[in-house]
Amino acid sequence: MNIQKQNFGQMADGTQVDIYTLTRDNGLKIKITNYGGTIVSILAPDRNGIFGQVALGFDNLKQYLEQSPYFGCLIGRYANRIAQGKFTLNGVEYTLAQNDVDRHLHGGLVGFDKVVWQAEELSGDDHVGLLLTYQSVDGEENYPGTLDVTVVYTLTDDNELKIDYTATTNADTVLNLTNHTYFNLAGSGDILGHKLHLNADRFTSVDATLIPTGELHSVKGTPLDFTKPTVIGNRIEQDDEQLKIAGGYDHNWVLNGSGDGLTLAAIVSEPSTGRVMDVYTTEPGIQFYSGNFLDGTLTGPGGVVFNKRTGFCLETQHFPDSPNKPEFPTTVLKPGEVYKQITVYQFSVK
Ligand code: GLA
Repeated sequence: MNIQKQNFGQMADGTQVDIYTLTRDNGLKIKITNYGGTIVSILAPDRNGIFGQVALGFDNLKQYLEQSPYFGCLIGRYANRIAQGKFTLNGVEYTLAQNDVDRHLHGGLVGFDKVVWQAEELSGDDHVGLLLTYQSVDGEENYPGTLDVTVVYTLTDDNELKIDYTATTNADTVLNLTNHTYFNLAGSGDILGHKLHLNADRFTSVDATLIPTGELHSVKGTPLDFTKPTVIGNRIEQDDEQLKIAGGYDHNWVLNGSGDGLTLAAIVSEPSTGRVMDVYTTEPGIQFYSGNFLDGTLTGPGGVVFNKRTGFCLETQHFPDSPNKPEFPTTVLKPGEVYKQITVYQFSVK
């Protein structure tokens, strides 16, 4: 196993950005840049040992700076949507950027995906890793409290990509961290033939603006039922109100057995290549997004076109709009507390 560092370009202010390649012999090869803590590439073998690109990304910093639809990046302070970009904490109302129509999305104008993280290489007998740190000062993107965040990406001997998030604050704040990698286990084409299993009996139904209504809705009898492995494309065009609002899948599922430590959240398999990805997390929710907003205007390495539904995201997280939904698990972090979340993406073949 090894890790190598290369220059990936410069920010407008001259800050150097690097890209790290984490390699497991005969296994995964993952590239991560400290710009946005972004996973740029994941090469994974299929059932015949042939490597394919299973993560959507660009091969240059410029495209990340100018046009990335959150490819591979870390999201913070608050992943997903906050209604009207407003929330009240300890009697004080905070107004955040409305960067998604009238909603706040993925941390605002300059979220954790658009900053340069400090990076440190890690290595051991059975793993290599990248330790990233970022200090988000009090008032950044109008969030209260200075927040110190550490994210460790680890590639293990078991072909796991593990993401450990830790954070502390010096004043009460809200926080919801995730990673926004778009996967395509086929290595090309769309993701409609992938089979998805979600360990979730309920989802947070949304109103017409993609903000949760507050209801934990049963998946039974709806096209959001992935309690058994189901082909993603089977029901995606079904006449269903939730699907119509989102233009496909773009919802938060309530994970069964959350609160019990690291639990199985999802299994995705791709029949033609045999690639399988298992997702484990400590988080209570997972956003399954079927790449509905990709529209073929962006292109990647070798001229690959990022068409609609050529990637899917499985963003492990707390529920959207939790700061305005006291009935949801809390996203408040206080001084003296340590925020922790672990998510594992494990790759295999069958
Ligand atoms: C998340 C959201 C989607 C979309 C993507 C980025 O997954 O839930 O609605 O905004 O990010 O395009």
